[in-house]
Amino acid sequence: MRNFILVLSALFSTVFYAQKKPNLIPYPQTVNITEGEFIIPETLVLNDKLPKEETDYFKKRLGSLVKFKYSSKTEGAHLTQALVPQPKIPVTTEDVREKYTLTISPKGIFISSYTKQGYFLALQTLIQLFEEHREDKKIPALRIEDQPKFAWRGMHLDVSRHFFTVDEVKQYIDYLTMYKLNTFHWHLTDDQGWRIEIKKYPKLTQIGSKRKESMIGAYADNTFDGKPYGPYFYTQEQIKEVVKYAQERHITVVPEIEMPGHALSALSAYPELACTKGPFESATKWGVMDDVFCPKDETFTFLENVLDEVIRLFPSQYIHIGGDECPKTRWKECVHCQELIKKNNLKDEHGLQSYFIQRIEKYVNSKGRKIIGWDEILEGGLAPNAAVMSWTGVNGGIEAAKAKHFAVMTPGAYCYFDHYQGDPQSEPNAFGGFTPLEKVYSYNPIPAELNAEQAKYISGVQANLWTEYITDFKQVQYMIFPRLMALSEVGWGTSDPKNYKEFENRVISQFKVLDKMNVNYAKSIYNISGKIVPGNNGITYELSTSQDSKGVRYTLDGTDPTINSKNYQGPISIPKSITVKSAYFENGQLKSSISSQQFTISKTTGKKITLENQPSENYSFGGASTLVDGIIGNVKQLGKTWLGFDGKDVVATIDFGQKTGFSEVYFNTLENKGSWIHLAKSAKIFVSDDNKNFKLIKEIGKEEIQNAKGKIKLNAGSQNAKYLKMIIENAGIIPAGNPGADSKAWLFVDEIGVN
Ligand code: ACM
Ligand code: ZN
Repeated sequence: MRNFILVLSALFSTVFYAQKKPNLIPYPQTVNITEGEFIIPETLVLNDKLPKEETDYFKKRLGSLVKFKYSSKTEGAHLTQALVPQPKIPVTTEDVREKYTLTISPKGIFISSYTKQGYFLALQTLIQLFEEHREDKKIPALRIEDQPKFAWRGMHLDVSRHFFTVDEVKQYIDYLTMYKLNTFHWHLTDDQGWRIEIKKYPKLTQIGSKRKESMIGAYADNTFDGKPYGPYFYTQEQIKEVVKYAQERHITVVPEIEMPGHALSALSAYPELACTKGPFESATKWGVMDDVFCPKDETFTFLENVLDEVIRLFPSQYIHIGGDECPKTRWKECVHCQELIKKNNLKDEHGLQSYFIQRIEKYVNSKGRKIIGWDEILEGGLAPNAAVMSWTGVNGGIEAAKAKHFAVMTPGAYCYFDHYQGDPQSEPNAFGGFTPLEKVYSYNPIPAELNAEQAKYISGVQANLWTEYITDFKQVQYMIFPRLMALSEVGWGTSDPKNYKEFENRVISQFKVLDKMNVNYAKSIYNISGKIVPGNNGITYELSTSQDSKGVRYTLDGTDPTINSKNYQGPISIPKSITVKSAYFENGQLKSSISSQQFTISKTTGKKITLENQPSENYSFGGASTLVDGIIGNVKQLGKTWLGFDGKDVVATIDFGQKTGFSEVYFNTLENKGSWIHLAKSAKIFVSDDNKNFKLIKEIGKEEIQNAKGKIKLNAGSQNAKYLKMIIENAGIIPAGNPGADSKAWLFVDEIGVN
């Protein structure tokens, strides 16, 4: 390889030109712009010694841009390549399989690499350059030397909660290809559906691939659609087709078969594998289920037979065996499980989890493969050769690497693409969380706690797409794009969070390619943020965007800003209850989603407010003024329009500034028992003219608050006062029988208004 580079350097001048950086994602390790440019011809002449499958892919991707012709001569061909013999270990321990050099001169394009995979990666770079210069047809001459930092650059797809067709899975694999990811983690089984045909156990797909109905809306609503889902699964022929498709793109498919937890769909088909008798049904709600595989011999025989078929279908070095979120409820009550713990001198049920995983590992190892599992496989002791996928945070990865086990980093806060990527109010319903593009881009897979030697055990990074709230493929596209691009650059090792803005510009350039492919990517990076500022005459509303503020337009009457809207000039005064809709435009074209903010203005809006107890740090949003900002709380936005108090009461005093007449007081308090949020126990309203002597004018109890479902509107008689004080009482200690029993309840309040 080095020889080729030397020759090429001599041929093509190494003078550096201060040209614009090419719009490449992931950005290569080194890019040197040289003299001149390659003019994209009408017909691109390909040397006929180019590796066939890889070149066919290139032709398919660029078929709308150029025609192609083959030539047996190197001389005169526009695209040539060389495969260089791989250096022999131990001459180098560097992994060169994905390394490539791409040289573009006015005369032509030359790629050198050690493998076809390297050649294929170079073609991805080349495709992006062709796409960038689709219009001007001139690619600046350059030389790129490139290779990834991390060996595992993965994307996961959950097909259990919602199923995606073979064609959709292939499209998904193409998205990985475009951005040089190399691992597709296929989450094939879970409580809500078993999606892979296993010949020996036909009931897995006959019974386990269906569920009675599916949960819809927010988890707390406990609402179901009443529609049977399935049977949906992949036949073994279809699995082979997908694996082959991925192989042609140098992508490894890692299958996941969940155990010992997340097994309810398997138990619905084979209830004898559980601790109790059943019968069981595939789950209809999301979450974690108590019924799991019982570690009896019969279960191990079953799992070994399943894994036999899986191993035959998937050539990957790693088989993912799940291992996450396995409640120990049934094992604690099961005679067999308890005997097994005693017989094997295990410490407890966590030891039994470890026993389970180690026994499976031994089997998988005996077939020449390795296991990888979610970080709970560390519980009770890690299996000797296992790799860890660190999702609950980074600690699992740190612990694994310190113990010289490989780890793939996929911490929820950075790598869960089922989270919101913009203000939830302007986004489709999602699982929760907030993981915008910039956050993904800021991630460094190497934890600071590791030294250089330990860091070598971090194999890479992956993002996960859980599909509880993703019912169709358009929404899959929306959730992965553009965040997949940030992941790609993080995994390639060329991300630079300080220069996020520059990355964002490259992302925007990639949108043109996605537009052509009709991909439904999220436009959240264009979205408008609004900020409420209290002033002497009520509140004003400031709009901002990470883009050019001249593109911000809005309406004040709730109408669609794409039809008739004003250019944003500065803070908007909000004198009465209205809805502000805003969006970002470029050349008259809508770029963002439409942000909508409804204001409910009352005599408290924008007034001075003080709180005796402060809200919890995570739920303190705009501080005390959140309660008088004119915004009624949105349940989807607990981190925004609400204040959350951990075990404390709301004791708020509002200063009207002058004597003010009113006869109605309102506020909302929230109930979401699953999240330990309880309605207020009581509320008291006081008035004062001197902020010292307060008179109680109204009091309500628990029953009234419950009957109103927390939406409180009270007749306050005829008042005229300078100060209003409210004491909204926290529910206190959570009673038995509720999630979080014996802990302090949360009290959430959004707004205190008077009319
Ligand atoms: C997981 O998110 N339960 C791995
Ligand atoms: Zn059991």
